[in-house]
Formats: sequence, structure tokens, C-alpha cells
Amino acid sequence: MEYSFPHYLLSKQSVDDRALNKDVLNALKANLPQQPIRIIEVGAGIGTMLRRLMRWDVVQRAEYVMVDELAENIEYASAWIPEFATEAGLSVERIEQNQVRVFDKTREVRIRLERADVFDFIRRNKAPADLLIAHAFLDLLPMPESLPKLLSLTKGLAWLTVNFDGVTSLEPVLDAALDENIERLYHQTMDTRSLGGDSQSGRHLFGYLRGAGENILAAGASDWVVHAVGGEYLEDEKYFLHFILHFFEESLTGHPELEADAFADWLKARRAQVESGELVYIAHQMDFLVKRNNDFSV
Ligand SMILES: C[S@@+](CC[C@H](N)C(=O)[O-])C[C@H]1O[C@@H](n2cnc3c(N)ncnc32)[C@H](O)[C@@H]1O
Repeated sequence: MEYSFPHYLLSKQSVDDRALNKDVLNALKANLPQQPIRIIEVGAGIGTMLRRLMRWDVVQRAEYVMVDELAENIEYASAWIPEFATEAGLSVERIEQNQVRVFDKTREVRIRLERADVFDFIRRNKAPADLLIAHAFLDLLPMPESLPKLLSLTKGLAWLTVNFDGVTSLEPVLDAALDENIERLYHQTMDTRSLGGDSQSGRHLFGYLRGAGENILAAGASDWVVHAVGGEYLEDEKYFLHFILHFFEESLTGHPELEADAFADWLKARRAQVESGELVYIAHQMDFLVKRNNDFSV
């Protein structure tokens, strides 16, 4: 199987659509200022959140800045955004390689793609947004020290979604002790990444946000729950599951606390469960809507 990160992000869309906490989303809709607004999305990947927010009619008129450090993601986004906008019946005007306007009679979104490390972008950014979005991203950063820097990107709201929160579950059980050990070590790799990361970032965000003096307007679970329906996974979720197992393989191969053959057999058995539609994957995550106190000091 070929593992492509943009393909993984595409396959994740339907999983995220179900997972996003709809109470937190409703609170976002209720608190959004009148549009047009300025939105900054950090760790934006290939633009799946932009597509979702237009599809769900949350964003109609906006300037939308997408920041991601991977050139592969920005290049993919640059080609893909016009495609999905056209499919949705919108007109597309390419202003520059990384600037696109999508519009129809009632909607107009000007999109700017920035390939940058988020902290370099924060240092350069002059205009704070009305809404900051960080989706499946905060659990990769050093916390809590990154939080005030990130929040300086907004003068209004921050919608911080799909923050991993320490529970991975793969069913059916293969070998209870081995399953538990693999899940524990997998979480440990998130906590020991050299660039930062926290396998319990969801629950920790309550304290970190309060410590930073921010108002949490809404919070709730946004668990990924992936299972077959009538023996088949929905949309492209079979690929999504294979990619999750690939993450396990990449982070744990050669781990001194795992017997290599046992781990290889475990991966093989889990992959067979995906092929037969048996595997059920659950990851516990949390969403937050934050309203800033308008203190821009970093
Ligand atoms: C798990 S992916 C989520 C992408 C997107 N939000 C989504 O859910 O489709 C995390 C993204 O953060 C980006 N990223 C990681 N560290 C970053 C950094 N320091 N600055 C900017 N982007 C970063 C990665 O390139 C990746 O696209």
C-alpha cells in the first residue's frame, strides 16, 4: 500500500465530520460575528476544514488564511481547493499561486495559503483574526507555552478541535496484554516527541486555557469512531484505518519494550481485521470554543 499524507487527510474527512462536537459547533455558529470575517487556520493540512465549513454553510464571506509547514500539503491544497469549489458550483479566480478567490452570488472566500512553521507565521502576522482554527493540531505542540502565542492570532474566537485525549481502543481484542502494551507505548511516543506533544491534550486544555485567562464557551468530546457498516467501511475509511496502523508501525518499530516478531504479527492481524471489516477503532478527543479576553501580549 502506498502511504500518502494528503490521501490520509482526505480519508479523514468523513471520520472528522462525524466526530466534531455539534454542541461546540453550534456555539461557534452562535458566536461568530457578522461576515465577512478573517479566519486563520493553523496546521491546516490540505484545506479539508475550509471545505467542510463551506459545505456546512458556516463560512460564507471570509478571508481565510491556511498555515501549514509541509510544502506537500500546500501544493496539494493549491490544486485541490479550486477542484472542490468548482464541484460545489462556485466560481474560482486564482489571484496568485497560493491565493484563490471562490465565490458565487451569496458567498465569497479569499483563501491564502502560507507554507510556514506556525511560530514563524505568528511572529510575522500583523492582523489578528476573528476566528482561529486549530484542528487535529494542538496535541503536536509544546504546551502550555505555545497557547498564548497561538491565541495571539485571534482577537475573537478560537475553535480548537480534535485534541487527542489519551484513549485509543482497537476491537476486537487480539491479545489483551499485548494490545494494552502497544496502546500505552503509542501514547508514550506522543508525549516524548522532540518537538512537543501531549497524549492527554484534551483534558489538559481546560487548565491551560484557564491558566492563560481565556474563556471556554463550550467544550465536548469529538471521538473518532470507525466501524464497518454492512461489512464495508464508509467512504475512504478503510484507507484511514490502514494509515492509523501505519502510524503505529512507524512510531513503534524497533521499540525496546516490544518484541519485534510479536509486534509484526500484531500489525498483520490488525491489517487483516481491516480487510475483513472487523476492526473497530475509537480515539477519544475533545473540542473547545474559546472567547478571547482581548489581551494581545505574548
Ligand atoms: C494531524 S495533521 C492535521 C491537518 C489538518 N488540520 C486536518 O485535520 O486535515 C497536522 C498538520 O499540522 C502541520 N504541522 C505540524 N507542525 C507544524 C508547525 N510547527 N507549523 C505549521 N504546521 C505544522 C502538519 O504539516 C500537518 O499538516
